[in-house]
Amino acid sequence: MDGNGRWAKARGLPRTDGHTAGEENLAAVVRAAVKRDVGWLTAFGFSTENWIRPRREVRHILGLHEKLFGRVAELNELNVRIQWIGRPFDSPTAKTPRFVQRAIAKAIADTAQNTGMTLTIAFDYGSCTELATAAQRIIADRVPATAENLQERLYLPDLPDVDVLVRTSGELRISNFLLWQINGSTVYFTEKAWPDFDAAELDAALALLPTG
Ligand code: IPE
Ligand code: MG
Repeated sequence: MDGNGRWAKARGLPRTDGHTAGEENLAAVVRAAVKRDVGWLTAFGFSTENWIRPRREVRHILGLHEKLFGRVAELNELNVRIQWIGRPFDSPTAKTPRFVQRAIAKAIADTAQNTGMTLTIAFDYGSCTELATAAQRIIADRVPATAENLQERLYLPDLPDVDVLVRTSGELRISNFLLWQINGSTVYFTEKAWPDFDAAELDAALALLPTG
């Protein structure tokens, strides 16, 4: 969900306002995606690299994730199951504070019975670390290093491969996001900053879906 800072700057607002608008926009995109029968939606909320941002900004983004995972009533109304992808909380390098851990655990438990779209939030997530962890698990389990064995040792083995990857804010590069899972994925590039990514943008991205 890139471009929150630039969105705010263009409006003479503090970066934190851009993140606030971005969180609200995700809630709107979730509603639009449900209407369009999207089965799986995965959003990059916060990366393993983002912790070095100014403390105030990080604190604000943490609060927004607490808010996002707190949208349980809304998710239940939409029949959306929420899950999280990221560095396990018990890993020595994990930095997720307890209040965010609790919000994540509660949201997962309280939406687990929903059968519609699965919304996955990447928080304290980095794809290279995920793949390194999967490789370490292969070694620990003493199994052959096959693609199948690696897939089974990803953070969320049941997350399907990505059909369409969306890059907002005019970024023409891939980031440290689902590098294994985007194998074969179509990429939708847009100039729009994340807070401006609306239903029409979602339709443009979905129009790139392979048919048949
Ligand atoms: C994305 O917006 C939000 C996070 C990475 C947490 P940015 O903060 O990256 O916005 P820009 O790239 O500075 O515009
Ligand atoms: Mg950015």
